[in-house]
Amino acid sequence: MGIRTNGLKVSVKEKINKLVKELNDHNYRYYVLNQAIISDYDFDQLLKELEAFEAKHPEFKDDNSPTLRVGSDIVKSFNTVEHRFPMVSLSNSYSKEEIIDFDNRVKKTIEEEVEYVLELKYDGVAIGISYLNGKLKQAVTRGDGVRGDVVSENVRTIRTIPMHLRNDDFPDDLEMRGEIILPLTQFHRINEERVEIGEEPYANPRNTASGSLKMLDSSVVAQRKLDGYIYGFYSTKNPFQNHYQSIVKAAEWGFKIPDIKKRMIEKVRSIDEIIAFIDHWDTERKNLDFEIDGIVIKVNDYHQQEELGFTAKAPRWAIAYKFKAEQVSTRLESVSYQVGRTGAITPVANLTPVHLAGTTVKRASLHNADQIERLDLFIGDEVYVEKGGEIIPKIVGIDLSKRSDDLEKIQFISTCPECDTVLIRKEGEAQHYCPNDITCPPQIKGKIEHFISRKAMNIDGLGGETIDQFYLSGMVNNIADLYVLTKEQILPLERMAEKSADNIIKGILESREIGFPRVLYALGIRYVGETVAKKLAFHFESIDAIMNANLEELIAVDEIGDRIAESVIQYFSNEQHIELIERLKNSGLRFEAKREKTEGPQLLLGLKMVISGVFTKFSRDELKATIEKNGGKISSGISKNTDYLVAGEKMGPSKLEKANKLGVKIISEDDLIRMIAE
Ligand code: IVH
Repeated sequence: MGIRTNGLKVSVKEKINKLVKELNDHNYRYYVLNQAIISDYDFDQLLKELEAFEAKHPEFKDDNSPTLRVGSDIVKSFNTVEHRFPMVSLSNSYSKEEIIDFDNRVKKTIEEEVEYVLELKYDGVAIGISYLNGKLKQAVTRGDGVRGDVVSENVRTIRTIPMHLRNDDFPDDLEMRGEIILPLTQFHRINEERVEIGEEPYANPRNTASGSLKMLDSSVVAQRKLDGYIYGFYSTKNPFQNHYQSIVKAAEWGFKIPDIKKRMIEKVRSIDEIIAFIDHWDTERKNLDFEIDGIVIKVNDYHQQEELGFTAKAPRWAIAYKFKAEQVSTRLESVSYQVGRTGAITPVANLTPVHLAGTTVKRASLHNADQIERLDLFIGDEVYVEKGGEIIPKIVGIDLSKRSDDLEKIQFISTCPECDTVLIRKEGEAQHYCPNDITCPPQIKGKIEHFISRKAMNIDGLGGETIDQFYLSGMVNNIADLYVLTKEQILPLERMAEKSADNIIKGILESREIGFPRVLYALGIRYVGETVAKKLAFHFESIDAIMNANLEELIAVDEIGDRIAESVIQYFSNEQHIELIERLKNSGLRFEAKREKTEGPQLLLGLKMVISGVFTKFSRDELKATIEKNGGKISSGISKNTDYLVAGEKMGPSKLEKANKLGVKIISEDDLIRMIAE
C-alpha cells in the first residue's frame, strides 16, 4: 500500500512541477516577450489545474508557484533585513557641463578607452531580488540603503519578475536590482476607480508604486499591475566582464530589460553620443507608459568600475542626469472650490495664465485644505508651478520675497459654494464634504451621470449634456425621475431629434432589466464600488435586507469593513433615499438577486463562517473558495450569527475573545477539511 501511495505521490509531484514550468513559460512569453502562444482561456485552465493539484497536495506546493501571482490576503507586517551588497544611490547632475566633468574625471583614472552604458532613470521604487539556485528567495526594498523591508509576497505578484530563472547558466546565488514602476495606464485606471467610489485620487505613480509594495494584502497588490525593469546584477561569483553583458543575460533568464531596439539602453564611447541620448529621451519620454526622471550613465567594464570605486555615498563610475522639471512662476489670483458627485470639495488655484511645457496653464490642483496649509498660501502670492507626471500642474512652492504685507492667507470655505450647506470634515479625512446630496446641483447631476454610466445602468444615448438639459428644465431632479420621462416631454429640448428621443426612452426602459448588483452600484453610495455592491447584493439578496441590516450584520459580509458599513447605514438612514428607492421599485427596477447555485455537495449549506490567521495547508483564498463551494457563507467579522470561526496561526486575540464570548465554535483548518470530507 505504502509503495503505491509513494508511486502516486511521485507522479503528482511531477505533474505539479510540469505545470509550474509550463505556466512560467507562458507567463514569460506573455508578459516579457509580448508573444503569447496560448489563449488567456487556455492559460487559466492550466492555472486552475495547478490550483486543484496544490489544494489536494499542499505538501508539493512550490514557494514560487505561479498561482501566487494573484496574491493572498494573509495579513502580516514586513521584516527588515540587511542588504548583502549595500544599496547606494547615484550622484545627480542637472547640466551637460556636469556630464563633461564626469567624463573627464573618469578618464583621469582610467587610461584605456572607456565605454559607457546609457539607461533610463526609472521613477519608481528600488528593489533587490535575490535568487538561490534559480528560485526567487527574497525581494527587499532599498530602505536606508543598509537595511530594507522584505516585500517578497508583493513582488511575486509582478508578472515581469521571474520566480524561476530560465536556462541554467546562472550563479547559484545572485541578486538582481531594478526599479518597480506603476505604468501610467494602470495609474490612471486606479485613480478612475478611486474617484468612482468617492476616494481621493493618488498624487503620482511613484508614490502609488511605493505604497502598493508596502500593502499588507498581496491580492490587492496583484490588482495594481506593477511592473519592473532590471538595471543591475550582483553576485560573489560574477561571470560577466561588463554591465551590459549582465543585462542582456538577465533577459535570457526571464527578466524584462530595457528595449534595445527602442534605444532604452545603449553602449557609447563619446560625450556627443551621451548628449544625443539625453536630448532624445527628454522629448521621447512623453511617449513612454511610465515616468522617468532622467538618464543614468554607467562605465560598462567591471574592472574599470572597480578601479574607480565609490565615494561615501555613490559610485564614481556612474552618474544620473536629471531632466529639469519644467517650472515657472506666476500669480495665484484666487481659489475656487469644485463639488464632486459624492460632495467632496476640491480646491483649485486660478493662476495668471502662463506658458509651461507647451501649454498655457491657468489652473492648478490644490487637493485639499491640508495641502493649502502645508504650502501656507496667500491670495496674490507668486507661486512656482510644475508639470510632473500629473496632467494638472501643481504648485510646488512660493516666492516669499515677492509676498507683500497686504496679502491675505487663504481661508478654506465653511459652506458649499453651490448650495450653501455647512461643510463637514470627518476626523482623519483630508477632504471636506457637502452633506446635501439631495438638492446640491453638482451632486445631483453627478449622481445621475454615475447612475447612467456604462458599468452602472449603461443607458445608451444619454450623456452629461443631456442630463444638464433635463436638470435645467426641471424635468429630472433625481434618478427616479428618469423613469417617468416621456418622449413628448423631451422632444422640445434643444437639439433633440425624434430618433434620439426614442433611443433615450428606450434605453431608460431597457435598463430596468439590469441585475440588482449593478443597480446597487448605480445608486452611488459612497465606498460602494462594483465589487462591494456585488458582495452586498449576493449576501443579502435584496435591498430590503440591506436596508434593515445593522453595522454588525454588514461587517459580517466578506470584505466589508467599518468604513463601508457606516456609509451604507448613513445612506439608508436618510428618508429621502428610502423614498427614492420606493419610486425606483415601482418603476420596475430590480432590487433582488439570487445567489448563484454552486456545484458540488452542499456540506456547509447556510453556515456562516469567519476565517482568521495564517494557514499551513491552504491559502485563505482557497479556504474561502472551498467554503463557498460547499454552500457556506464567509463573513469578515464575528457576530452572534457566526456558526464557526476557522482559526489559523497568529490569529488576533480580539477575534478569539469575541468568539469565546459569543459562544462561536472555533475549529482548525483540519477540522474544516474533515467536515467537508464527511
Ligand atoms: S543604478 C550603484 N540605474 O535611482 C548604482 N539606478 O539614486 C545603483 N534608478 O534609487 C543604481 N533607474 O532605484 C540605476 N537605470 C538605473 C536606474 C536607477 C532608476 C534609481 C535607483 C536608485 C536611484 C539612484
